[in-house]
Amino acid sequence: MKRFDKHIFVCENKRPEGHPRGCCHDKNSVNLREELKAKIKSAGLNTTVRVNSAGCLDACEFGPVMVVYPEQTWYGNFSEADLDQIVSEHIIEGKVVERLTIKDPKFNR
Ligand code: FES
Repeated sequence: MKRFDKHIFVCENKRPEGHPRGCCHDKNSVNLREELKAKIKSAGLNTTVRVNSAGCLDACEFGPVMVVYPEQTWYGNFSEADLDQIVSEHIIEGKVVERLTIKDPKFNR
């Protein structure tokens, strides 16, 4: 039996100001993870869907970044306004939100 149906990692990595790669922390990722976690709980999914903070996921240029397992869907450059769609369409209905996926074959094929 699986522990979770889905496991979502949201990068919260912070780099020093002016770092050439930037960081998800400075793109509001801490608040986005907390908001996503609250929405998962409101949907009654908090026992089957886990939202965790992560260190750098090596997709910094697409930040903020999250990856959803087990399907390995990478989302980038999303905002608070996108979280409801990710929860309702992907997490609940199982349909990837294509417009928010990272368009790079290293991440989504
Ligand atoms: S800082 Fe978020 S993916 Fe690297």
